[in-house]
Amino acid sequence: METLGRSIFTRNLIYYESAVSTNTLAKQLAQKGASEGTLILTEYQTAGRGRMGRKWLSQRYSNLLFSILLRPSLPPHEIFVLTMILALAAMDGTNESSGLQVTIKWPNDLYAGHKKLGGILTEISTKGKKVGYVVLGLGLNVNWNPEKEQDLLYPSTSILAETGLVTSREQLLISILKRFEDYYLDILKGEIEDYHRRWNEYSMIRGRAVEIASEGEKARGIVLLIDRDGALLIRDEEGKERKVFSGDLTILRRDKDEGAGYGQAP
Ligand code: BTN
Repeated sequence: METLGRSIFTRNLIYYESAVSTNTLAKQLAQKGASEGTLILTEYQTAGRGRMGRKWLSQRYSNLLFSILLRPSLPPHEIFVLTMILALAAMDGTNESSGLQVTIKWPNDLYAGHKKLGGILTEISTKGKKVGYVVLGLGLNVNWNPEKEQDLLYPSTSILAETGLVTSREQLLISILKRFEDYYLDILKGEIEDYHRRWNEYSMIRGRAVEIASEGEKARGIVLLIDRDGALLIRDEEGKERKVFSGDLTILRRDKDEGAGYGQAP
């Protein structure tokens, strides 16, 4: 069986049967000086958090729920790269462990087809122009699909629901963390280009018509690129290029048969 070996994630590995939220705990430990590579794993969260104050739901002993603490020597505007390499590591690890092809939905979601498989919550603390710490939390639906839960904003799935096979969470975790560490070391050396190219290649929204809603505003356009700083570059309906930094994204489609107009994706 594969092990983590000499990984930074074996230095301070903390496991809980149940936790409030691994991101919340990682931030508390970071404030007390916990070291780079601290890994918090749990089987269940009583207050799992998603982006924009949403909940993250998961049944006990079924999925992957973890957070990692990093103290990178990167400026704040480059921190998005870490979300992306965790997305790529989760995508590659899932593919290796189960054969399932995963895509990335900007800014932090993992999808299998048109259903959400996982999400990343990135939280950052800055001191002036420097990054104090970054907490990256991953929730990945491995053997349990939250589809029957109420209040889901999107269709969801799990590796089991997609492949019909139970996946070893331990092996998947090792596969994701090993990859993440390799990618992270490259990023610290300034080798971003290949990762930037890959996250655009596996982005499910590239070339698609989208709508992004943020703070009462809505932007619509065709996605050209996801930039290194995490901004979405779109061509809007007037043909102008626009950068969008955050928001809730919906994929739209232009209905060829009916001519103009955007419709909700199926
Ligand atoms: C999202 O899709 O909005 C992000 C979901 C992130 C969920 C993970 S589960 C482990 C970690 N702890 C949390 O409370 N959230 C992240």
